[in-house]
Amino acid sequence: MKDGVHLGPAPAEGAHRGFRHGDRYLLVARLGGTLYCIDDWCNHAGCLLSEGALDGEVIVCPCHDGRFRVRDGANVTEVRLCADQATHPVTERDGEVYLLGDT
Ligand code: FES
Repeated sequence: MKDGVHLGPAPAEGAHRGFRHGDRYLLVARLGGTLYCIDDWCNHAGCLLSEGALDGEVIVCPCHDGRFRVRDGANVTEVRLCADQATHPVTERDGEVYLLGDT
């Protein structure tokens, strides 16, 4: 879809928000003015990362404290329990987030 799929209101600077699109769960965070999107469904045991807290550029999973860098989905947990989170391109128009690419 050329213009992307509407997800909802964009998070403020330093904040994050979870969205659902069909059967997909997505987390969008704004850091340094840029929006980043990763899978919200933690690939360790399926908890929603959006229910966790941002620690700088890292979202901390509320279930087992897995730590994922929001800008590239990298698992930066000291003892890695699982893989990196997938990333997705998003854009913002009029304060709303749109998911780009193969949706
Ligand atoms: S479910 Fe996220 S670290 Fe276990």
